[in-house]
Amino acid sequence: MQLVEPLSDRELNRVYTPILSPLVWDLGHIANFEELWLVQTVGQRQPLNGHLGRLYDAIENPRRTRGELPILRGDDLRAYLEDVRERTFEVLDEVDVEGTEDALLSDGFVYEMLIAHEHQHNETMLQLIQMLDGYEPVDVDPAPDGEPISEGPEMVWVEGGEVEIGAPQAGFAYDNERPRHTLELAPFLIDRTPVTNAAYASYVEETGADPPMYWEPDGQGWWVRTAMGRRQELDPGRPVIHVSWHEADAFARWAGKRLPSEQEWEAAARGADRERANLDQLAFGCARAGAYGDAACDSGAVQLLGDAWEWTSSDFLPYPGFRPFPYREYSQAFFGDTYKVLRGGSWATRRNVIRTSFRNWDLPERRQIFAGIRCARDG
Ligand SMILES: [Fe+2]
Repeated sequence: MQLVEPLSDRELNRVYTPILSPLVWDLGHIANFEELWLVQTVGQRQPLNGHLGRLYDAIENPRRTRGELPILRGDDLRAYLEDVRERTFEVLDEVDVEGTEDALLSDGFVYEMLIAHEHQHNETMLQLIQMLDGYEPVDVDPAPDGEPISEGPEMVWVEGGEVEIGAPQAGFAYDNERPRHTLELAPFLIDRTPVTNAAYASYVEETGADPPMYWEPDGQGWWVRTAMGRRQELDPGRPVIHVSWHEADAFARWAGKRLPSEQEWEAAARGADRERANLDQLAFGCARAGAYGDAACDSGAVQLLGDAWEWTSSDFLPYPGFRPFPYREYSQAFFGDTYKVLRGGSWATRRNVIRTSFRNWDLPERRQIFAGIRCARDG
């Protein structure tokens, strides 16, 4: 609610782009999804408003159609958000999440899932907010505690061999992160820090490639960043963000490298600490490349978590022995060669959402997401 606090109903309802929902749809969908799982499924209650479920079904309603739907708006929406949350707490008082055989309830899985769902939509909403001229955040921490800035080699060596990939059996994770399995990786090198704006600007200058989203020439040979309608000088030392998979891949080749596979990324991220990372939406931008120098991964690389999602070379595919849970549409409907995997989260990702096994996926042409680059090379 803090994210939408500065916005008028007109801005909440407005469709800015066919690739993102109007914010009003996200808000209603967050509550409706909570009602579906925590009030109706767990609490065995009747729906508050019978037809809403169809309007807020993400598969049935592609993003480009959502602005036209007869969804809840204004005070009706605010009342519904409150009603659902109240009922959720009523149901929570009745349930026993310990000692249950029900996989949905056991250890509170479905509650963790709903918190994660809401938090993931917060990031989607921030994608749209980047397009809002004059948006003023309620709360900003523009200089996240990213000190010290580390020095080191351009790339770090990862031994490879037998590595374990995926989430362990215990604790919350999505179906696509399981089962945990072992595989053989050849040794490789990976960039110690994310690719910077300076490096990407050199690539753009040398090749004539398009600049990332939200870059405009400043008229003096450098660039300004234009997200949220501002014109701020681009900081050469921060990670590049808002590039597509195609752009990330082309950059990596230009640099004489390649994108890492998602398994390589996960091996390089062992030991990453999400408490020492630029996450949780308050920075409204990336920390400098090399930040959190005292929180390097076992590989010596920094900032695997937070700042910018990192494109990998991998298609979004099921792990061997995958089983859909709790519903087929979460992951399985997206498996195949259409989507590319991103890892690590961004400044716009809520802290509890991210872990080194977390797999995000998107279309290779997408740039409105908070995605950047880290390159690899055969060892
Ligand atoms: Fe959703």
